[in-house]
Amino acid sequence: MSATAELIIEGKSYQLPVVEGTENEKAIDINALREQTGYITIDSGYKNTGATKSAVTFLDGELGILRYRGYSIEDLAEKATFLEVAYLLIYGELPTAEQYAAWENSIRTHTLVNEDMRRIFDGFPVNAHPMGVISSLVSAMSGFYPDSYNEKAPDRTEMHIIRLLAKLPTLATWSYKKSQGHPINYPKNDLDYSSNFLQMMFALPVANYHVDPVVANALNTLLILHADHEQNCSTSTVRLVGSSRANIYSSISAGISALWGPLHGGANQEVIEMLEDIKADGGDVSKYIEMAKNAKTTGFRLFGFGHRVYKNFDPRAKIIKKAADEVLAKLGVNDPILAIAKGLEEAALNDEYFVSRKLYPNVDFYSGIIYRALGIPTNMFTVMFAIGRLPGWIAQWKEMRAGKEPIGRPRQIYTGATSRDFVSIADR
Ligand code: ACO
Repeated sequence: MSATAELIIEGKSYQLPVVEGTENEKAIDINALREQTGYITIDSGYKNTGATKSAVTFLDGELGILRYRGYSIEDLAEKATFLEVAYLLIYGELPTAEQYAAWENSIRTHTLVNEDMRRIFDGFPVNAHPMGVISSLVSAMSGFYPDSYNEKAPDRTEMHIIRLLAKLPTLATWSYKKSQGHPINYPKNDLDYSSNFLQMMFALPVANYHVDPVVANALNTLLILHADHEQNCSTSTVRLVGSSRANIYSSISAGISALWGPLHGGANQEVIEMLEDIKADGGDVSKYIEMAKNAKTTGFRLFGFGHRVYKNFDPRAKIIKKAADEVLAKLGVNDPILAIAKGLEEAALNDEYFVSRKLYPNVDFYSGIIYRALGIPTNMFTVMFAIGRLPGWIAQWKEMRAGKEPIGRPRQIYTGATSRDFVSIADR
């Protein structure tokens, strides 16, 4: 017999079904709760709320496990390419050699962006943050592919998916080029995904540009580590926006906006700025540890520390820390910020405040150090995260639509004024 949970309200007992996942996670199904009892549940920040059933990504925050479609993040980061992982997330299985060749080729040949998008881009000021820019440009793509929002047109979702994956790196490099006063580079479709991005970022018309394989490999690993993370803030945003049947471009654009926040993907930029501040302040990490411990009065948080679900360690942070050491050594980069980061981590891991609150380095703590070593400017870090997370957003959006999930529409407990009579302006 399947398990049920008993809820007693005002002396009356209700039986609620229990839902169990393939990794034995359990949930109490409250779908009929309001109808049966008149009550709703309150769970600010959704700490205990499962918004959906999903077969894309599994994570266990206590054990520090992360798997995409059943494959461990450690294996994928070491053995796969980013586009292989993208295929896995979106279609559920690793591609065969033939499927991979077709998939990679489609993405490779759709990197060019409509020239009219450039006119939209040209309207942005030179110092506009690239996250705001790519969110706007991805949203604007719906205008160039109107079948994305015409529900009567034949379904072209697969084409939109290819376009998003192919064009986001192109769009992402525009802001950087503009900030440098350099001409933008067109994609070169004989290059692989990571190399093409690097070429668009760093090549100049006056010299030949050779992609360093160490840099391209490191980028490939970072993109894989960021590719999905189940129902996080930006992914939930993508699913919620998509649940209104908004098109895939608007839904992904909303996800990019959610990712930008400093408590989410924006933390990678904040980490480097924080480490820079500590360096400029003489490198005394203990002062910043004390400030973070008094977060309530100082308002200062140790960026790159803590996670809503990982309460042991973030498996991605482990891989990135090792990769940071390797990449910096291979590139011959000696970044004093790395020593500060390690000092900060060691001090925090031995401090009762952080230990008792289970605050460990998250994926963003070391990613910025690698990005810096690769030559990526700080304000582009969150954009790199967005390029990495794109396949996850797409996979989750597709799953939500295929599952015909109802429109997302939370309820509330109203705490405002009760009914009162209108007073005309002359009498107020
Ligand atoms: N520095 C100092 N104290 C912290 C930190 C931090 N980075 N993170 C949490 N705390 C403290 C809180 O003040 C709180 O203390 P209290 O119990 O005395 O009130 C306690 O730890 C629990 O914190 P919450 O904010 O309730 O935890 P929550 O799960 O809501 O937040 C979050 C998780 C947002 C990631 C938080 O740890 C944080 O702000 N970290 C810094 C920003 C960051 O690195 N974000 C990236 C997350 S990973 C990602 O999105 C890719």
